[in-house]
Amino acid sequence: MERSGLGTISGHIQLLTTQQKCIATLALFCCSAVLMVLIFSSVDIWGDSEDGITEENCSRDCRQIGILYSRLSRTERLSLPQGQLLFQRLLRLKSRGVKLKIASSLTNSSELKALAAHNAQVRFINMTALTKGGLHSSFWIVDRTHIYIGSAEMDWRSLSKRKELGVVVYNCSCLALDLHRVFSFYWQLHDRDYIPSIWSKRVTALYGKHEALELQLNTTPATAYLSTSPEHFCPKDRTRDLDAIHQVIQSAKTFIFISVTDYLPLVKRSFRGTSLIREAVVLRGVKVRLLISFWKKTHPLTFNFVTSLKTLCMQLHNCSLEVRFFSHKEQKEDFQLGLNHNKYMVTDNAVYLGTHDWVGSDFAKNAGVGLVVRMKDSTKDTGSTILEHIKASFERDWRSRYAKNLQKSKDQQGKYRLLQWSKSQWETKEEKEWNNPL
Ligand SMILES: *[C@@H]1O[C@H](CO)[C@@H](O)[C@H](O)[C@H]1NC(C)=O
Ligand SMILES: *[C@@H]1O[C@H](CO)[C@@H](O)[C@H](O)[C@H]1NC(C)=O
Ligand SMILES: *[C@@H]1O[C@H](CO)[C@@H](O)[C@H](O)[C@H]1NC(C)=O
Ligand SMILES: *[C@@H]1O[C@H](CO)[C@@H](O)[C@H](O)[C@H]1NC(C)=O
Ligand SMILES: *[C@@H]1O[C@H](CO)[C@@H](O)[C@H](O)[C@H]1NC(C)=O
Repeated sequence: MERSGLGTISGHIQLLTTQQKCIATLALFCCSAVLMVLIFSSVDIWGDSEDGITEENCSRDCRQIGILYSRLSRTERLSLPQGQLLFQRLLRLKSRGVKLKIASSLTNSSELKALAAHNAQVRFINMTALTKGGLHSSFWIVDRTHIYIGSAEMDWRSLSKRKELGVVVYNCSCLALDLHRVFSFYWQLHDRDYIPSIWSKRVTALYGKHEALELQLNTTPATAYLSTSPEHFCPKDRTRDLDAIHQVIQSAKTFIFISVTDYLPLVKRSFRGTSLIREAVVLRGVKVRLLISFWKKTHPLTFNFVTSLKTLCMQLHNCSLEVRFFSHKEQKEDFQLGLNHNKYMVTDNAVYLGTHDWVGSDFAKNAGVGLVVRMKDSTKDTGSTILEHIKASFERDWRSRYAKNLQKSKDQQGKYRLLQWSKSQWETKEEKEWNNPL
């Protein structure tokens, strides 16, 4: 699991200005997200005062306009100035009367120091002390009205070198209100070395898998909720990422497309993702496609898991489970370049957009956040729902020349790497506690 060398930040920008200004700020971010850069990750924007918006009168009439991709550029030289541009804009927020709050696990970022010197409130979260993991969440909240959530960190690598995917949902204060509670949770963790067992009501979840938010997304009826991990980071009523993933897999009727950087479902008993996939494929005839990155850090056992999954359909009718590895040819020089850093799953009726790879320990230690959106009537094909956007994005990657089947990738490097991997290395103490779901 490669996170940026600079780490991750959760943040929060407070806006005390007019709606127009807020949208301008968000637009700035969108451009930034498409083109670039920086060093932090989840940023949430809005005012401390509750601004009078409550669960009762928050907006459920939301807009989602396309999905955000990162545009890959070849060199650091090209992409750094764009990152600088975003950074400069963030520095200038103060002069526009816009407040910025950032929660981060970085200890020594010069950019964060500069932002703090320009009136941004920056809080440090010591993930090492809390869970021995990392802060992988990446989201923004603007004005308690608009949100961004996706795989991109605020790191120039994220937005200029790696392949990322995220969504911005506008005019959706109900969802923003709940995401703000996730942010508030992080905000309260600053400078602590333990996770409190009792939490204020201001961080408990508003929506979850049993009671999702009913909303209109581009005038299409949908439901949505947020999930988080690790378990210790789930205050009352908050759905765990793993439970969200299970729910999305279990409710799939015709297909499940999964795109993750790393796939290594060796986890404690609670993660039944792989067995659920097998159930879906064999018992329910759901077509499954798994797109995994093939890169420097691909664990050799990934190939064993994939081979095992694929044998499932041998001699079975109506059984479809395909796996491809996404590998960018430029990666030989720079392993982050073109890396498929996406972490999502899309089915015939729902999408799960998260920040973790499907690697057991990720969910157990690292802080992440996921968004589940379910379309109420997914049979209507309008070409403009979040589901259709993400499905189209998956299909584009799947059919691209960078997506290769197992055999090809394996011939290239996999076998060689497997040989290199000694058995002793693999049999760690932690490993023995794990339950291999295959
Ligand atoms: C929402 O409700 C709260 C409390 O009932 C009220 O103070 C606030 O003005 C309302 N906000 C809007 C935008 O209607
Ligand atoms: C912190 O960053 C500064 C400048 O980037 C560097 O000179 C310094 O060595 C760093 N300190 C630590 C403890 O890493
Ligand atoms: C984070 O916590 C660890 C373990 O408690 C401690 O060793 C480390 O110094 C802390 N880091 C910072 C920057 O406070
Ligand atoms: C959000 O709502 C405002 C006010 O209703 C409207 O002017 C604006 O165009 C909406 N934004 C989007 C992106 O739909
Ligand atoms: C395979 O699928 C087709 C069409 O969905 C169906 O008619 C057929 O009965 C299925 N066969 C098996 C063996 O399940």
